[in-house]
Amino acid sequence: MKKPILKAKGISKTFSGETILKGINLEVRRGETVAIMGPSGVGKTTLLHILGTLEKPESGSLEISGKNGLSGGVSQIRNEHIGFIFQNFNLLEESTSIENVLMPARIGRKPLDSAHALELLKLVNLENKAKSIVKHLSGGEKQRVAIARALCNNPDLILADEPSGNLDDTNSAAIHQLLIHTAKELGKSLVVVTHNRELAAECDQTYLIHDGNLTSPHHSD
Ligand SMILES: Nc1ncnc2c1ncn2[C@@H]1O[C@H](COP(=O)(O)OP(=O)(O)O)[C@@H](O)[C@H]1O
Ligand SMILES: [Mg+2]
Repeated sequence: MKKPILKAKGISKTFSGETILKGINLEVRRGETVAIMGPSGVGKTTLLHILGTLEKPESGSLEISGKNGLSGGVSQIRNEHIGFIFQNFNLLEESTSIENVLMPARIGRKPLDSAHALELLKLVNLENKAKSIVKHLSGGEKQRVAIARALCNNPDLILADEPSGNLDDTNSAAIHQLLIHTAKELGKSLVVVTHNRELAAECDQTYLIHDGNLTSPHHSD
């Protein structure tokens, strides 16, 4: 069995007296792809933020690549071990594609390896737009830049929150293929929040958030 890259136990989160997450357990192994589904407002983004060390739960434990994801040098763990992909891209719109791809290296005070960034843009089939200002790119192209950026620091884990939520069907399908292909090809673990059943079906595991817990979709359908 491959090592767990992500190990979350008993994760709980309450907002304004309402408990959104009620003791979530999730283990993701190296190279494993996991889809998380569920209607709007059930806590998918909150869970992904907690798994990505961006938010803290009230209780539970979190290990990322064997390191404690709740205390200590959490920002370093995030920078070195996790790549993020957001629904609204979260790119620097006035900067070029390649500058965006290099941002995780910049944040981690690592050498800015333009050749490596170009390789990543090539991987997402966007090397011809390396010097383009991001605001001039299409939505599909922006999300490809974001995928390349997520890979910049060679993380073990990619967290994607509705990565095709702002894209049309054709671009969505392309981004899904790219995500799954990249995870498999590079041996990355992937946790993706999605409403897309085809993408979920391509993942090794699918969970629904239901009443604050992760359930298997077969039980709730
Ligand atoms: N920072 C916050 N403060 C207060 N309530 C929040 C906060 N973040 C999320 N919530 C609430 O928690 C619930 C789950 O939100 P979210 O995780 O964004 O759901 P989803 O991604 O599944 O749509 C929602 O009711 C939302 O309003
Ligand atoms: Mg959300």
